[in-house]
Amino acid sequence: MQDAAYEEIVVLNDEDSGLHAIIAIHNTKFGPARGGLRIKNYAFPMDAMDDALTLSYQMSLKFAFYRLPYGGAKAILIHDEAHEPEKRKGRLRAFARSLKRFKDRFATGPDLGSDHEDLEIISRRAENVIFDAKHLALISDGTATGVMASLKGVCPDLTGKTTMVIGAGKVGSKLALLLKDAGAQVKISDVRQERAAAVAKQCSAEIIAPEDATITDCDILIPCAVGSSITAEQVPNLKCKIICGCENAQLAQDNLAQQLHENGIVWVPDFVANAGGAMIGVEMTSGSPEEQLEAVGLKIFEATKSLMKDARAQETSLFSQAIRQAQERLQTQKIALPR
Ligand code: PHE
Repeated sequence: MQDAAYEEIVVLNDEDSGLHAIIAIHNTKFGPARGGLRIKNYAFPMDAMDDALTLSYQMSLKFAFYRLPYGGAKAILIHDEAHEPEKRKGRLRAFARSLKRFKDRFATGPDLGSDHEDLEIISRRAENVIFDAKHLALISDGTATGVMASLKGVCPDLTGKTTMVIGAGKVGSKLALLLKDAGAQVKISDVRQERAAAVAKQCSAEIIAPEDATITDCDILIPCAVGSSITAEQVPNLKCKIICGCENAQLAQDNLAQQLHENGIVWVPDFVANAGGAMIGVEMTSGSPEEQLEAVGLKIFEATKSLMKDARAQETSLFSQAIRQAQERLQTQKIALPR
């Protein structure tokens, strides 16, 4: 999902390092913009732009829904993992030089494909990046805790429920553990076999081939992959009753939210369920890690419960209700040119 208006989109190209990157700032109406750095290879440059637009808007929805004083943004660095590590480092250094100019107006942090080492390289040249290892671990734990809390808001007792986790990255594998601890059966899939195998071993999970993940029998589907895990072709074949995961931009098209609702499947909007990492990334600095995670979990649990109540009262889907609330807030102030 994209918006009609963005505050600033910057395309970064540097021939020496081979940097091709995009910084999309959706808005800074309520406070400085925040959003992770995604490092990924794209078949077409326009696909990277598409992601930058979609994901920066998602961040805005997240902050607006939870009434946090920040604006949405995202950075995309196009990089093929097959390239030698030195190339990656050079691109990150060049990226950092440009990032620096934004000062606190835009700060970045972890997202799909960027790890501690990447963010640390950036931190040597730019201050507006979250890079310390403890904070990074807490961000992914925060995302996982938030998804669990949201899920518990929809389904309080997970004992004996079959869950299908799509994607065994940092958050997906953490979620698999939390689900197992909550008494759920766990199925796992990942395009990288070894990652699925590691989770299978840790959580006695059943490995499912990625192409079968959405059609396998399960009560709850947990998308934690790169995006668009739910497509129009899959919706009629879904076996689950609930979808709730950490993936940003889970639906390949917006109108699928309505179709899921009509098919009796509860889809917890991504920007509602996965906001725990963002909350910790932008705000939380005091309290022990346990206290911070508990606070995030409580906030997301309560928000999901009241969203369900409102949606039921309005006889609408969680998505329609959540997007209406987030957009209403976004419309209370105008976009202004960068100062
Ligand atoms: N990338 C994560 C997200 O989309 C976490 C994050 C949020 C990282 C904000 C940096 C800043 O929510």
